[in-house]
Amino acid sequence: MLCFIMALSIREHPPASAHAKAPNGGKELDRKLFTVGPVHVDPEILKAQTRPMITHRSKEYKALHASVIERLKKALDTDMDIFLVAGSASAFLEGAVRNGVKSNVLGITNGSFGDRWIDISKANGKNVKEIRVPWGKPILPASVEGAVDDSIEAVHFVSNESSTGVLSPLGDMIDSIKKQNDPLIFVDGVTSVAATDLQLRKNNVDALVFGSQKALGLPPGLGFIAVSEKLMKKAKEVQNRGFYTDLIKIKKNNDENSTLTTSPVSLVYALDLQLDRMLAEGMAARYRRHREMAGIVRTWSSKLHGMLPEEKYSSDTIGVLNRGDLDFDKFHASLKAKGYEISNGYGEVKQRTFRIGHMGDVTPATLRELLKAMDETLEEFK
Ligand SMILES: Cc1ncc(COP(=O)(O)O)c(C=O)c1O
Repeated sequence: MLCFIMALSIREHPPASAHAKAPNGGKELDRKLFTVGPVHVDPEILKAQTRPMITHRSKEYKALHASVIERLKKALDTDMDIFLVAGSASAFLEGAVRNGVKSNVLGITNGSFGDRWIDISKANGKNVKEIRVPWGKPILPASVEGAVDDSIEAVHFVSNESSTGVLSPLGDMIDSIKKQNDPLIFVDGVTSVAATDLQLRKNNVDALVFGSQKALGLPPGLGFIAVSEKLMKKAKEVQNRGFYTDLIKIKKNNDENSTLTTSPVSLVYALDLQLDRMLAEGMAARYRRHREMAGIVRTWSSKLHGMLPEEKYSSDTIGVLNRGDLDFDKFHASLKAKGYEISNGYGEVKQRTFRIGHMGDVTPATLRELLKAMDETLEEFK
């Protein structure tokens, strides 16, 4: 009888083979991603997520939470509070605006994701003064000269614009804004954090937003925000901060080493391991590795039509290459047949560019393998 009950209960679950077998017969395990996010995730990190579940109010979770936040601060070299949420980075792009702006914000954009933040501010009922920098160009002090008057409560912009592969000089921008006035400074660091040294001790930002699926080399699903005391003080005066991204409530929970809503525990396990790996590599070495990869892609790009951004402002994480007359879809299909995946162009420059993501756990050696496969594909096209 007992055997019969056991057999029944086992049968309620799908057979083990259904879990073990990947949908396309396991082939997808060989996929090599050089995409702009989600990016390649090392098998060891994927595996870390299978540790047994714990609840986010347990003593064990609190110890884990405290430890990941402490090491994240160490990695980013900051004493700012860092909060995490189950969500994508956009949760906190919205959160920054909802908590720090009553009415007026200045949104500077040089691509799709700068546009996105402006859209987010408008969707939350804020008055947005817009500065539009041409796509492919950096946001420079001259872009904001004379634009930051007393009415501006916050300025937001993207550090590394993922649609164009342009890295804007953060320190210069902050200096230029501060010379004019003293608004909050919100930075989208989604594709620069953990790959580019943002020098947070020198560069006083009030919100730095990022996500797990980029240079942290983790699966998607964790959003992060580093906040200043100045932003937290302002948040107390701002109405309608919402619930999910209310930084005051989130801080209260974070101070108790937990989250406001349920923490994505499996992702925090992955973060736990990744932080150990990042600190073992050393952040300076990590930043150098990303810079080196950007150089490798730039050199390769001369085989085609060069890069969209000028070298001085090129991203450490995303190479945006001019397509010229290359039939990208055909090229990419052939590359994919070899197991490699890169990314299409994005937004306004979609038809004339394509993108190579080289962040997280991508290395110069694995990047060179991709470029070799790209060489072979170009040969086939001749
Ligand atoms: C620069 C930048 N900002 C914001 C986002 C949006 O991030 P998420 O999809 O994690 O909300 C992205 C996504 O690619 C991005 O590259």
